[in-house]
Amino acid sequence: MKITVLDGGHAVARALARSIAEALREKADLVLGLATGRTPVDAYAELRRMHQEGDGDWSRASTFNLDEFAGIDAGHPGSFRQFMRRHLFDGVNIDPTRIYFLNGAATDLDAECDRYEEAIRGAGGIDLQVLGIGSNGHIGFNEPGDELIARTHRVRLLASTRQDNASLFGDDPSHVPAEALSMGIGTILQARRIVLVATGANKADCIAQTVNGRITTRVPASVLQVHRDVEVLLDRAAALRISPI
Ligand code: F6R
Repeated sequence: MKITVLDGGHAVARALARSIAEALREKADLVLGLATGRTPVDAYAELRRMHQEGDGDWSRASTFNLDEFAGIDAGHPGSFRQFMRRHLFDGVNIDPTRIYFLNGAATDLDAECDRYEEAIRGAGGIDLQVLGIGSNGHIGFNEPGDELIARTHRVRLLASTRQDNASLFGDDPSHVPAEALSMGIGTILQARRIVLVATGANKADCIAQTVNGRITTRVPASVLQVHRDVEVLLDRAAALRISPI
């Protein structure tokens, strides 16, 4: 893993945005895997700003988001699709037909997961996957446990994860859907390149376990150690407990 420690959250956001913009310049039909959550928001704002200034042609790029809530439709304001529309898609010239999302309102959720895997394959696989990390080490909605699931699948959300997402649902965790759909660990590992971003002291422990610890299903992000092209962008607070490698 290539670890880069930067001065603060804004520096991390700029570095992530630059990395995505550079990948877009190198490959106009880039297939980008995207994450929601608080951490990448400033990077998405930076990408919108860059696009307005003429840097970043998204017209041929495709995006696949990592996860989506189940039981709500794409227009629901709490959906990750709407989150991405607000924070990124409305501000760049992406072709709406190239925005791929899991449909949490599908009647057959297992078939929907298969469809998503097929769509990723059909697009030629993910060139660059952006990841955040939960303070418990989750990536996407792949939560710590006795086992991890390789392919895109349904997930019953932990109480802590519903709490973390409450702001999308009127600050009431009981309004956060109990289930979600998520790319699996194998789906994520198949991306050709991965950039993981983390900021803040509450990520220091999970980052140390991810970077220096054993590979374990108890820290899902630790599996990234087996991938040959992972960059980890951290602010000083999130990097506090890592030891030199
Ligand atoms: C969301 C996702 C999650 C978040 C993680 C960190 O699409 O994949 O794994 O990346 O929960 O969230 P923040 O950035 O809010 O700390």
